Amino acid sequence: MIKKIGILTGGGDCPGLNPAIRGCVERALDFGIESVGILDGWKGLIEGRTIPLNLSDVESIVGKGGTILGTSRTNPYKKENGVDKCLANIKSLNLDAIVALGGEDTLGVATKLYKEKNVPVVGVPKTMDNDLSATDYTFGFDTAVTIAVDAAERLIDTGTSHRRIMVLEVMGRHAGWVALFTGLASGADWILVPEKEPEIDKMCEHLKKVHQRKKYALVVVSEGINIPGMKTGKEELDQFGHMILKKRGVGEQIADIIEEKTKIETRVAVIGHIQRGGKPTLFDRILGTRVGVKAAELVNEGKFGYMVALKGNDVVPVPLEEATSKLKVITPDWLKFMETFFK
Ligand code: F6P
Repeated sequence: MIKKIGILTGGGDCPGLNPAIRGCVERALDFGIESVGILDGWKGLIEGRTIPLNLSDVESIVGKGGTILGTSRTNPYKKENGVDKCLANIKSLNLDAIVALGGEDTLGVATKLYKEKNVPVVGVPKTMDNDLSATDYTFGFDTAVTIAVDAAERLIDTGTSHRRIMVLEVMGRHAGWVALFTGLASGADWILVPEKEPEIDKMCEHLKKVHQRKKYALVVVSEGINIPGMKTGKEELDQFGHMILKKRGVGEQIADIIEEKTKIETRVAVIGHIQRGGKPTLFDRILGTRVGVKAAELVNEGKFGYMVALKGNDVVPVPLEEATSKLKVITPDWLKFMETFFK
C-alpha cells in the first residue's frame, strides 16, 4: 500500500508546475497518501532534501509561476554514486513512490530508474518547448507562446514606427514549436525553425517585398536553428549533454545577415527566460492541474513506469519509455502550413 510519495520538479522551470504539484498533493490526500516535496529536482533526491507538502502548502499556488520545489538540471547518472544515493534516500525517507515532473531529461532519468532499479515512478510532462513525444501538449508551452506573441506585437509597433525589420529570437531548443506558434499567432513574415534549413536568400527577397508593402517586417527565429557559416562561439554543454543555445546568439547573427542583404535597418530582441516566468495561462493551469491529479491516481493504482499524457482532450497514461525515446519535432504538414503565410 502506498502511504507516502515524493514529488520533484526537474529541468527548466515553466508555468504550470505549481498547479500540477497542487493537483497531485490534493488528489493524493483523497487516498490517504502523504506527499513530500523533493527540493531542486534529482539533486534534492541525491542529497535527501525534502519539505512537507500539506494542504496548506499547496492550496494557494495554482496561479503562481515557477515551482515551489525548486529545480535543477542535475543528472544522477553523471554524479558519483548519484543513483545509489537516490535509492538510499528513497528508502530512508520512506518514499513508496516518486512523481517526477519534467521534460525529456528528467523523465529520461525516471525511465532508467524504473527500468533498471525498479523505482516506482510516475512521470508528469512539462516543458515550454512542447517537444515531448506521446503527449499532444505540455504545460508551459501555452504561457511561453502567449508571452512571445505579446513581445512580437510590441516589436511590430516599434518596427512599424521606424520602418524596420524586427527579429524576435525565442527559445525551444531543438524543436521549433515555440517559434512556429509565435510566428503564426503574431502574423510574422518569416519563421526560422530547426526542422527546416534556412533559405536565407529567399527569406531576404521576401522581406524586401513585404517591407515595401507594409513598411515593416517581422521574423521569428528559434534559438536552435543552424545558419550556414554561423559563428558558434562558446559551446557549453549541460549535464545531459545539451548545448546551451542562448550563448550562440542566433537572433543577432540572423539580424546582421538580413540587414546586410536587404539594406533595411534591422533590430533584434531576445526574450529568453521571460518566456518561462509569470503566471500560467488558463490552459496551463487546467492542464497542469489535470495531469497532477492523474499522477496521484496512477500512484494509487500502482501503475508505475507511466507518464500522464494529454491525448485529444483526455488525460491518459502512456509508458514513460514511449515518451522519452524520441523528441517531438515539427512535422512536414506544419511546415507546409506555415508557408501559406509567407506572401
Ligand atoms: O528546455 C526549456 C528551455 O527553456 C529551452 O527552451 C532553453 O534552451 C533552455 O531551457 C534554457 O535553459 P536554462 O534555463 O538552463 O538556461
